This record gives sequence, structure tokens and C-alpha cells, in this order.
Amino acid sequence: MRRAVCPGSYDPVTNGHLDVIERAANQFDEVVVAVLINKSKRSMFSVEERIEMLGEVTEHLPTVRIDSWHGLLVQYAQANGIGAIVKGLRAVSDFDYELQMAQMNYRLSGVDTLFMPSNPTYSFLSSSLVKEVATYGGDVAHLLPAKVHQRMINRLAERD
Ligand code: PNS
Repeated sequence: MRRAVCPGSYDPVTNGHLDVIERAANQFDEVVVAVLINKSKRSMFSVEERIEMLGEVTEHLPTVRIDSWHGLLVQYAQANGIGAIVKGLRAVSDFDYELQMAQMNYRLSGVDTLFMPSNPTYSFLSSSLVKEVATYGGDVAHLLPAKVHQRMINRLAERD
């Protein structure tokens, strides 16, 4: 069984994330999408909401499952028999930090990281930028799965 993990904050999942998850699912027998919990980061959605949204948007992918983890990613990978971490790379600017994390993770555990070049359609896309644009009334409908977009609209309306 070849298993990979796609880790992230997923606050919320974007079309860019989904593209990487779908492509990872084509390469591995099982893909775990792990919501990494970072309590120091202010989030728009709770971990439970993020997991729910990820479940909804990956419903069509039978070999993908969703989980969450608080702690080191490599501890999660080792505890779950996962041999590879898959990360999307949007631009060269992502590379420095991602390379550093990949090398650290390998040194800590022997778990390898595979970089997936992002679809150029989404190379500018990040959850934080989407949240900022949406907060100030910009249209982000084409950047998020429809259900996620609706939840963001609802969340912003609750805040007003
Ligand atoms: O979606 P993000 O916030 O860019 O994801 C970053 C994430 C969660 C994948 C990264 O911060 C991570 O792996 N965190 C888990 C803690 C950990 O293992 N840190 C050491 C990295 S070498």
C-alpha cells in the first residue's frame, strides 16, 4: 500500500489544494489529507469545519481520507505508515522554505517529500489571500469549490 499525506492548514481548502489532492490520488494507493492544527494561527474556520469541507470536496475520490493532527507532521506520517509527503509548489518563492522543511522532515524520519508543480491557473492562489479578498468584498467564487465559497460568504455575513 503506497500512502501519501497532503498536509496543510486548509483554512479553507481552495481549488489549488484540490488540484494537488486529485493529482496525488492518481499516484498513490491512498492519500490522507491532514489538517495540521496550529493554535497560534488565527483561523476563519474551526478544524471540524475544515475537515467537513475537505470531506465534501473530495467525495468523488474514494482513496482519499481526511484527518487532523496536532504536532510534528513526520510523527503523524510514521504513526500511520505513510511514506511520502506531497506538497504543491506554486512558484519559486515557495521553494526555499519547502526545501528546508522537506530536508528537515527527511532527516528526522526518512519520510520523503514530493513536490507537485501547481496548475498555473492557481499559481497565485492561497487561502490567506482568498480570505483577504473576500473580506473586502472581492469575488473569489472561481477560486474555491462552490460549497466552500458559500460557507465563506456565510462566515463573513456572521461577522458583519
Ligand atoms: O497550509 P500551510 O499552513 O502552508 O501548511 C504548513 C504545514 C502545516 C504543512 C507545516 O507548517 C507543517 O508541516 N506543520 C506541522 C508541524 C511540523 O512538522 N513542523 C516542522 C516542519 S519541518
